[in-house]
Amino acid sequence: MDDIEIRLLTLADKGHVEKFFKEDFCVREPIFSHTKQPPKEGWKFYKSSMEAALKAEISYGAFDTKTGEMCAYSMNLLGNAEVPSVNLEPYPLPVKQCYRLLKQTYPNGMDTDVGTQNYLEIFFLGVSDGYGKRGIATQLCAKGVERARQLGCEYVTIDCTSAYSRKAVENLGFYCIREVPYEEYVDAYTDKKAFEAMRKPHYASTLLALKL
Ligand SMILES: CC(C)(COP(=O)(O)OP(=O)(O)OC[C@H]1O[C@@H](n2cnc3c(N)ncnc32)[C@H](O)[C@@H]1OP(=O)(O)O)[C@@H](O)C(=O)NCCC(=O)NCCS
Repeated sequence: MDDIEIRLLTLADKGHVEKFFKEDFCVREPIFSHTKQPPKEGWKFYKSSMEAALKAEISYGAFDTKTGEMCAYSMNLLGNAEVPSVNLEPYPLPVKQCYRLLKQTYPNGMDTDVGTQNYLEIFFLGVSDGYGKRGIATQLCAKGVERARQLGCEYVTIDCTSAYSRKAVENLGFYCIREVPYEEYVDAYTDKKAFEAMRKPHYASTLLALKL
């Protein structure tokens, strides 16, 4: 992949990450796009996690060597990272719905599921339209696994909302801990199956882990 450079992200990459999140990730990621989460609100909500991820220098970006543009990211956080908590209440319904669905996938916290806080979580994984199906997501996750090993982590975790990201990490040996099927999940805010009409082949929000 001569046209792509994969490298560790730092706080200096915040502009790239924000642009990618708002202009690409939010409009393509299954649950954000399904609920039409407003990118600006989504960014406001997740900004502190993104900054913590960049500060920790354990996240990876892929850049097009011709344009210099970010074409993919894997935003990673450690299980014991201190991320300032954000009050969900004032956010619009789609932000709340997505957040609650994700929480339902690990209702007692990922640390309870893997039995330790010593893990690295891949919390956002995205590849731009036009760069897909070339193994970029798989490579970014493999980088995260390598970094987690260097740091002495016991697990790498990911919540996959896409059938494709799930495939990518299953190819690396991740196993499924819990699935919340879109067809069954009832959203607490509307009392409706808010994700029932999710586009195929995406079928569940799934917590997966790799034991190192
Ligand atoms: C999910 C996503 C990150 C995958 O990125 P990618 O770089 O295309 O993934 P890879 O090339 O590493 O492929 C991983 C697997 O998914 C498959 N796949 C990826 N995109 C696919 C597509 N559009 N159609 C069919 N299969 C696809 C690949 O064939 C591969 O499986 P295989 O090795 O068994 O053949 C990318 O589609 C994306 O950014 N989507 C929007 C945001 C999103 O959904 N993020 C994940 C949230 S958890």
